Amino acid sequence: MTQAPDNKISVLFVCLGNICRSPMAEGALRDAAARAGLDISVDSAGTADYHIGSPPDPRAIAAARRHGVDIGSACGRQLSQSDFFDFTHIFALDTANMVGIKACAPRHGTAHVAMLLDVLDRAGEPVPDPYYGDDAGFDECWSIVSEAANALVQRFLKDRIAARF
Ligand code: 4NP
Repeated sequence: MTQAPDNKISVLFVCLGNICRSPMAEGALRDAAARAGLDISVDSAGTADYHIGSPPDPRAIAAARRHGVDIGSACGRQLSQSDFFDFTHIFALDTANMVGIKACAPRHGTAHVAMLLDVLDRAGEPVPDPYYGDDAGFDECWSIVSEAANALVQRFLKDRIAARF
């Protein structure tokens, strides 16, 4: 069984399409970790194959940019079984994503899997999908994922790779 190299914390965010919520969460955590001087790996993926190879939704890119974060170079990809060995932590953005993650999980995967908002003591709560809404929904999404990202950084600084949610 493999573990992520040299015990470095590595986080994968998973939503449905990997063009809205999870690349925003990825960008928010990269930014929060850099500001805190925390060296971690961050990526995102979708449970669906709809947007493989696509950049994030332009509304997600714009919302992140309004907060000084560039997510324009992210490239959509689908969750794979190897992710459960390559990442120490996998976070689902909503409960349907969690069902998809569990359906993909190999029996001996090593990643710790949780709902993202568990880190905010909002156990089981989803990050609402802004895809069918307007810009305000993307700003709201940014606000939620950046709050969660900051909380994640605090937990990782305290508990390192052992952090469980
Ligand atoms: P995401 O949002 O899962 O946050 O990336 C969606 C993106 C695309 C679709 C649905 C949700 N879609 O149906 O194409």
